[in-house]
Amino acid sequence: MATEGQTGTGAEGRSSGGRYVVVKALEDGVIIMGLTRGRDTRSHHSERLDAGEVLVAQFTDLTAAIKVRGRAEILTDVGRVTSGSSER
Ligand code: TRP
Repeated sequence: MATEGQTGTGAEGRSSGGRYVVVKALEDGVIIMGLTRGRDTRSHHSERLDAGEVLVAQFTDLTAAIKVRGRAEILTDVGRVTSGSSER
């Protein structure tokens, strides 16, 4: 039986788990960067969110890591964390 979010070869060639990350900006100008999978780690895409905006992103063969700059609430399958300054 298929398990939600489980690794599979995937007809779309995105076989790297397909796990999702949810980022909610807690201030204007939060930057989210997608970092490449493989030996080379570089930023291949960035998104800017203003306060209250939410990005739902997925890990793929291209994206191995996600970097968040600024104050945001981040939900993943390993838990929930707040990025940025905790004062305020
Ligand atoms: N290119 C790296 C890799 O595929 C990307 C990466 C994965 C990464 N996990 C990371 C970069 C954690 C920084 C921190 O392994």
